Amino acid sequence: MVSCQFLSFSAFFVLLFGVKISVTQVDVGTETTSPEPLSTAICTTCSCADGVVNCMNLNLTVFFEIPDWDGLRDFQPLSVNLSQNPITHVTRISKLPIRELNLSNCDIQTLEDGSFVYLEDLAVLDLSNNKISTSAINKKVFAGPLGLIGPVNFKNMQYLSLANNDLHSLAQDLFLFMPDLLHLDLSDNPLAFIDQVTMGAISDLKYLKELKLSNCELETLPDGLLRRQRKLRRLDISNNRFTTIPSVLKEAPSLTYLNLDRTPIQTLDSNTALCNLTKLQELSLSRLSRLQNVSAGALAGLGDLTILRMNYNPRLTNLDPDFLVSKNEDDEEVWPNLSELYLNNNNLSSIDSAIIDNWKELVAADFSTNPYVCDCKNQWVVDVLVPLLITMSANSSINNMV
Ligand SMILES: *[C@@H]1O[C@H](CO)[C@@H](O)[C@H](O)[C@H]1NC(C)=O
Ligand SMILES: *[C@@H]1O[C@H](CO)[C@@H](O)[C@H](O)[C@H]1NC(C)=O
Ligand SMILES: *[C@@H]1O[C@H](CO)[C@@H](O)[C@H](O)[C@H]1NC(C)=O
Ligand SMILES: *[C@@H]1O[C@H](CO)[C@@H](O)[C@H](O)[C@H]1NC(C)=O
Ligand SMILES: *[C@@H]1O[C@H](CO)[C@@H](O)[C@H](O)[C@H]1NC(C)=O
Ligand SMILES: *[C@@H]1O[C@H](CO)[C@@H](O)[C@H](O)[C@H]1NC(C)=O
Ligand SMILES: *[C@@H]1O[C@H](CO)[C@@H](O)[C@H](O)[C@H]1NC(C)=O
Ligand SMILES: *[C@@H]1O[C@H](CO)[C@@H](O)[C@H](O)[C@H]1NC(C)=O
Repeated sequence: MVSCQFLSFSAFFVLLFGVKISVTQVDVGTETTSPEPLSTAICTTCSCADGVVNCMNLNLTVFFEIPDWDGLRDFQPLSVNLSQNPITHVTRISKLPIRELNLSNCDIQTLEDGSFVYLEDLAVLDLSNNKISTSAINKKVFAGPLGLIGPVNFKNMQYLSLANNDLHSLAQDLFLFMPDLLHLDLSDNPLAFIDQVTMGAISDLKYLKELKLSNCELETLPDGLLRRQRKLRRLDISNNRFTTIPSVLKEAPSLTYLNLDRTPIQTLDSNTALCNLTKLQELSLSRLSRLQNVSAGALAGLGDLTILRMNYNPRLTNLDPDFLVSKNEDDEEVWPNLSELYLNNNNLSSIDSAIIDNWKELVAADFSTNPYVCDCKNQWVVDVLVPLLITMSANSSINNMV
């Protein structure tokens, strides 16, 4: 324990110390009377125009060094795109007004501590599609701009993507210097299980509006994960191993968008945490390979819902006609005013005409590719639905309606 604390303390000290030395070097560079000519390496290699430095896909194997970055001082870059280069190690970048830094689709495995400490204006950092492992990133790598006694917060940091790396968990206080983050993408990482420390790192981001955790091999989401994010609007937890609706969704009543595609949920019953998402406008439940039954009231209470995708669920056989219905105080049925409804490519033998009451606002729909049984019960499909879909101006599909 003692040695652990000592280690982290000394590492932090080294960071500050290292940073101070570099600051001195930069200062000397600017103040000296006979300066070295500014390096032109970056704008010779990349294209530099209108504040954008585009180095995409140039087969760069080595990251630029401080003197190269110093050469951009007069150019004043706002956006730097280094994506699609076989770079394995990221080193510190000079003090520049860069707002967007794109390091996606490289081969990055390691990043120097304080790589971004001079980028006070950094707002967008894309590190997606690299080979960053759990131990390669910690709060020192993501240290914020240097204040008088140490790193302070990035004041504009809004967007961070770590998608498609090799993260099994997140280090303690990983996002310490970016507390105002609005968008975080952790998709396509083998998290498998969100431990307390990982959860702490995420739940510290209390202004988050969008969180992506798609394809992270997750079986559950721990309670408390979303408790502090009162502003969370968009959540993508698709392509995970949930067999039921995660109860943690209760903590996110402000959600307007939820993606639960490609999860092995078998049945949607009433009274799940979905019913707490009263502000939800868009819900996607597509390609649920095991979904068989959707009960009455399964999506009750979603009064603001306008877009519902419940398609490509090859086993979805029993869809209760009242799956969207809830009752108000006067015991009247309440339906959401859907504008888009996709029920195509399921295993439905009929779609109940009761659903039609709710189609006043519908502009797009697809009910095709279901094994409809041709009987009186479905005659309304021919009488009402087909003409309706034909007159509907936008994008409906009556093709493949068997
Ligand atoms: C990329 O650079 C390496 C050497 O740095 C070279 O061997 C390789 O052929 C280059 N690839 C392309 C596509 O130019
Ligand atoms: C390069 O990166 C910048 C900043 O992230 C981004 O705005 C731009 O769209 C990227 N260019 C391409 C072609 O993806
Ligand atoms: C970064 O560049 C990639 C292209 O390699 C692009 O797809 C991506 O959208 C860019 N990221 C941002 C945040 O603009
Ligand atoms: C779906 O409903 C049918 C008929 O009520 C039932 O036999 C089946 O077990 C249910 N499936 C699941 C996964 O609950
Ligand atoms: C979720 O909804 C249920 C049923 O409407 C309600 O009893 C419960 O209090 C709600 N939970 C939260 C956290 O809002
Ligand atoms: C589709 O539904 C029929 C009954 O309508 C059922 O016999 C069949 O097993 C279902 N197919 C799948 C893939 O669940
Ligand atoms: C749907 O719209 C109608 C009129 O546009 C409105 O009276 C009704 O309250 C709306 N329903 C819901 C659930 O918002
Ligand atoms: C309908 O399709 C047009 C182009 O075909 C597209 O611009 C529009 O956004 C679509 N509308 C909806 C509601 O999907």
